[in-house]
This record gives sequence, C-alpha cells and structure tokens, in this order.
Amino acid sequence: MSEMRFDGRVAIVTGAGRGLGRAHALLLAARGAKVVVNDIGISDDGGSGASPADQVVREIVAAGGEAVASHDSVATPEGAAAIVATALDAFGRVDILINNAGICDWAPFLELDYQHFQKMRQVHYDGPWLLTQAAWPHMLKQNYGRVLFITSHVGLAGTPNAAHYGSAKWACAGLARMLSFEAGSADIKSNALGVLGYTRLLVDGFFSPEAVEDPSLAIQGERWWERNVRADQVAPVAAWLVHEKCSLNGEILDTGAGHTFRHVLATTEGYTKLDLSIEDVEQHIGEIVDGSRLNTWNNVGEALEDRLKKLHEAGVEPMGTIYAD
Ligand SMILES: NC(=O)c1ccc[n+]([C@@H]2O[C@H](COP(=O)([O-])OP(=O)(O)OC[C@H]3O[C@@H](n4cnc5c(N)ncnc54)[C@H](O)[C@@H]3O)[C@@H](O)[C@H]2O)c1
Repeated sequence: MSEMRFDGRVAIVTGAGRGLGRAHALLLAARGAKVVVNDIGISDDGGSGASPADQVVREIVAAGGEAVASHDSVATPEGAAAIVATALDAFGRVDILINNAGICDWAPFLELDYQHFQKMRQVHYDGPWLLTQAAWPHMLKQNYGRVLFITSHVGLAGTPNAAHYGSAKWACAGLARMLSFEAGSADIKSNALGVLGYTRLLVDGFFSPEAVEDPSLAIQGERWWERNVRADQVAPVAAWLVHEKCSLNGEILDTGAGHTFRHVLATTEGYTKLDLSIEDVEQHIGEIVDGSRLNTWNNVGEALEDRLKKLHEAGVEPMGTIYAD
C-alpha cells in the first residue's frame, strides 16, 4: 500500500506541546501536513509557558517539516478564534482539527466545587466546541474537513473520582457524533478517539507518589507502562481518522498499547407493553436490560422506526402509511 500522506493539508493539533498531542503533530508533519502546534504549556505547578509548543515546532522544522506554534488556550472563545486564525494566517486554510488539549485530576463528586467542574468542562468540552465552530465555516467553504475529538475510555467506561473529567469526555464524544450530521453534502468527517498513553497526564492520574517511589511497583508497573503504552502507538489511529481516506463518521474508536477497537452505543430488544405499570417494570427489568441481542442505529430515525414497529406489533395503530402493508 502506498504511504498515506497529508501533503497540502493544514492541521491544528491542540495540546500538542507534550504527550499524545505531540505524537499526533509529529506524525502528521512527517507525512506532509503543515501543523499548528497549539499548547499553553501547563507546567506541573499549574503555570503556563510557550516552550512546549515552541520545542515541538523546532523538532518538526529540524526534521524538514512545516509548523507554527500557537500559545492560546482552547478554553475561551477568543483563544479558539486565535488558534484558527493562526492556521489561516500561516497556511491559508484549515483541513484537520484534533481537539486533544486536556487536563486531569481526581476527586470525589462532593469535593468538586462548581469552579473545579467548570475548569474541566471548559478544556474538554467548551474548547472543542468553540474551536470546531471557528474552523467549521472554513471546512464547509472548501468542502473538506476532518475533526477528531479526543475522549477517554476512563470517562466512557466509568471510574470513581472523575465525574467532572469523565462527563466532559462523554460530552466531547457526543459532540463528535452530533457534528457527523451537520456537514450536509460536504466531505467533512467528525469522529472521537479514546486513548491510552504513558504521558504526564496518565502518570499524575494513575501513579501516586507512593506507588512511583516503591521500587517493586515501579519495576512491575510504571516501567512496563512506559515501555508498552507509548504515545507513538496512538498517533497512527488519530492520523487515520483525520486522513482523506477515513471512511468513518460519528464513530468512537479507542486505542492504546497497539490495541484498537470501536465503542458502540447499542440498545437492547427491550420489553413492550402499552399502559405499563411500575410493577411491570419490576417484573420485566431483566428483559429490559438483557444484552443478549443488541441493536445499533445509524441515526435517531432508524431507532424511532424500530420503536414504532414494536408498538404496532403490541397493538398500537400504524402511524400514517409507514406500516400500512
Ligand atoms: N494519556 C492517557 O492515557 C489519556 C487517557 C485518556 C484520555 N487522554 C486525553 O488525551 C489528551 C492528551 O493527554 P496527554 O496524556 O497527552 O496529556 P499531557 O498532559 O501530556 O498533554 C496535554 C497538553 O495539553 C495542554 N493543555 C492543557 N490545557 C490546555 C488549554 N486550555 N489550551 C491549550 N493547551 C492545553 C497542556 O499544556 C499539555 O501540554 C487529553 O485530552 C486527555 O484527557 C489521555
């Protein structure tokens, strides 16, 4: 197979000064894309700085690629507009947007005050929303665009102490799905990707200082992760999802350590009874949740049609001519 390239494409990768975003930016640039390396450079003490984005730009240029740095935050309307403007000013278009910038911390639900929740939501949901809305008109005009929302298996599958982070990651995956219906006939695709990579964010989240300092755990645990769960293993899936050959729209893939799969939102066959009582629900809850036969839907119309069919079978008169056979 010929090499999959991005020549002539302009990509914005947010949070690309470190970790997974850096890997995405390096791979896209190595395959010919012109890249806006966006990062506010959050330091370990919570401050910010230009150096991570600048450093990645230097790496790309040194390898013969093209890139510019952007130090604006994704989390404000002004920042999002400035990031898209950087792409337009430097390269004249924007074809690819990878909404990757992120932060993560852990706390029980009741310890998360509104400001804390808001900060998480602004980076993981408001930011992707604002940036995509700023880039979308340019994609529509050029009849081409690829938008990728970085979500999280931790968020989608669930875990304690991450209600703020996980729900924001659900929201950003939901946005990927909803935007897949917004492009009309334009060749714009919107997908989400759950990721797993040994990065600062993962270390801070998963490995407590006690665990990291425990020599036996470090050998069996953290070093294994460092070796086997690398950022460069994630980037090819992200790159495929923003390539012109990407055949998916509105889907959620997940990748880490070389293992890639799809998240599926499915419905059970369920239980149908008109004039349902609480006792009916109690009696049939097993049938309602039974996952032995699952259905997936391309859109809400298909799902509604199936519900109407079940209602019709249960005795409700057909709606219009749809089932008047
Ligand atoms: N590492 C994992 O295993 C993992 C798992 C699930 C999801 N994720 C997601 O992957 C993405 C990348 O995470 P990572 O592990 O590479 O983390 P990382 O901390 O290594 O890199 C994230 C980068 O985003 C930047 N950033 C933060 N807020 C920003 C803002 N408002 N504007 C611009 N830049 C900002 C930071 O400065 C940092 O350089 C995040 O969205 C994260 O939630 C990571």
